[in-house]
Parts: sequence; structure tokens; C-alpha cells
Amino acid sequence: MVQAAPFLLVVFLALGAHGLSVQKCNLTGHWKNDLGSNMTIFKVKEDGNFSGIYHTAVSDTTERIQTSPLRGSQHLPNQLNQPTFGFTVHWTFSDSITVFTGQCFVEENHEKEVLKTMWLLRKHADKRGNDWKATLVGYNEFTRLEKQ
Ligand code: BTN
Repeated sequence: MVQAAPFLLVVFLALGAHGLSVQKCNLTGHWKNDLGSNMTIFKVKEDGNFSGIYHTAVSDTTERIQTSPLRGSQHLPNQLNQPTFGFTVHWTFSDSITVFTGQCFVEENHEKEVLKTMWLLRKHADKRGNDWKATLVGYNEFTRLEKQ
């Protein structure tokens, strides 16, 4: 055990230094994804809960797209400061709901934040027999919109 102490110290210092060198990834702000959709996340509360608004660029319906509310939660920044999170978008112009889950990463050069997400979109099924085709799944990547 005594012999292992210097080794453990080196590992601890290396991990600690890495943790300190990674910039915090903060969900609050304006984001755009690879489909061209826009989202704004308001201030993340102390418990990790947050709300915001989502304007999708695409839709599975013929309804006019409207900005819709979102609610979510993130793990509070851990040592690596790249938290996991999830949020739900309640579409106001359709009878669907989308849940997103992902992680906020800071790119190697410490300049760019990126949200890597997967989503499930639940459509309304008119009958139980159509349940099998009511869920879509996909992937979206969000980057921060710079202040204009
Ligand atoms: C609907 O079509 O019923 C509501 C809009 C759904 C938009 C989806 S949610 C997942 C994907 N990512 C986006 O930014 N938009 C689509």
C-alpha cells in the first residue's frame, strides 16, 4: 500500500489537472442543430432543472410550425464539467412529444461546445394497432449560436 502511494498520487494529479483544464460546458444559451432547428435554454437552476423554447426547422405534420416549450434537467457539472442532460419538447402545433438525451462536450481546443443528443419522437396513434409505427428515433448535434 505504501509502495502504491506515489503511483496513486501521480494518477490523482493527472486526473485533477485534466479536470481543471477542461472548460465548463454550459447549457444556458442559444443553440442550432444540424437540421437548422433553434433552441434557447434559459438559466439552469441550482438543482440542474431548466426550461426553454424550441423552434424546429422540420415537422412531420402539415401544421404551421410554432415555437414550443421545453423542460429538462442536467447533472450538475462534475469534475470533467461535461454534463449529461435530458429534456422534453411539448410541441404546441402537433400532438407529438419529443424527448432528447445527451451530453455537453467541449471540443479539444476548448473553444467550441457541442451537444451530442439522441431523441425519440412519439406521435399520436389513432388506435392501439398503430402503436408500432408511432415512435421515431434520431440523432442531433447542437452548436452554440454566437451572440449577434
Ligand atoms: C412534429 O413534427 O410533430 C413536431 C416537430 C418535431 C421535430 C423533430 S424533433 C426531432 C428532430 N429534431 C429537430 O430539431 N426537429 C425534429
